[in-house]
Amino acid sequence: MEIDNIVVKNRGITIINRLKDISNKTIINEIYNGLNSKRRYISPKFFYDKRGSELFEKITELDEYYPTRTEKSIISSIGNKICNNYSGINIIELGSGDHTKIELLIKQISPEQLRKVEYTAVDISESAIKKSVSTLKKVFSQLKVTGIIADFINQPDIITNNKQKIICFFGSTIGNFTERERIRFMNNLSSQMRKGDKLLLGFDMIKEHNIIEKAYNDDKMVTAEFSRNVLNVVNNITGSNFNPKEFEHNAFYNAKKERIEMHLKARKDMLIDIESVKESIYIKKDETIHTENSHKFNSEHIKSIGHQAGLSTTDIFTDKKGWFSIALYKKHT
Ligand code: AVJ
Repeated sequence: MEIDNIVVKNRGITIINRLKDISNKTIINEIYNGLNSKRRYISPKFFYDKRGSELFEKITELDEYYPTRTEKSIISSIGNKICNNYSGINIIELGSGDHTKIELLIKQISPEQLRKVEYTAVDISESAIKKSVSTLKKVFSQLKVTGIIADFINQPDIITNNKQKIICFFGSTIGNFTERERIRFMNNLSSQMRKGDKLLLGFDMIKEHNIIEKAYNDDKMVTAEFSRNVLNVVNNITGSNFNPKEFEHNAFYNAKKERIEMHLKARKDMLIDIESVKESIYIKKDETIHTENSHKFNSEHIKSIGHQAGLSTTDIFTDKKGWFSIALYKKHT
């Protein structure tokens, strides 16, 4: 059933599609401008169509990809350090992806408190929202669950409501942003938080470069497939005719900028037609399209990221090896 932007509303589940407020033309132009710029790029948010979300889930299970499993082990042990009474709280998760992280947190809330908790998942992937929201409702029948399909970078107003909030942004997805985007994002979040609201941010930490590089160059080449799939997504949105097989996955650690960079490298010269804008672009052999930055952090970065946005760092929770951290920030004014 579809009424305006509300896709499903039944038995305590609401799904809202805010992506429909962004016109196709805007999205097509965003992609075309990136492909046509001097240093070609595609925003990493376009990785996550149905196939892309599935491939990312596969990545999180790889031996080499330590962030998800490390972050989950941290989440499992900090429920009562984040908050001692969850009654009346709206837990909002940005970039929620699958349901598995938040499930670990919600598990730690007592049934009496849980009846008064609301959970809101926000993600750009429609398939991920539908799946995670219905799974969570099955596991926690007393929980009020809302899913919002949205681009939270371009639609930062999605989380405004009057309830006491805990906002979660796990996975070190904040590492995808440039410094400017990150500052804008943090200020936006902070401006929507009221006194006492909390923010949980996941950070992948700076560590031996080899370990990081392997996480993006797995033996089974799942990451390579994930990386190339973005071209299928672009084809579907813009009517372009990329052949993903004609590109090589290239991921490396840029030590100066403290980040993983992912690029797609052309294996030959090619002419790409982009039907929806009636333009073609000529890509030469060995030319690259930059698809992702994944910045790595240390505790100084973590504190200053909060501070710049007017938030105080209450805690930084870390695993034994110090490979991943979850920061707890609080709005105090
Ligand atoms: C979902 C953005 C956190 O940067 O590690 C995984 C995405 N890209 N492998 C990351 C990703 C390639 C992931 N984030």
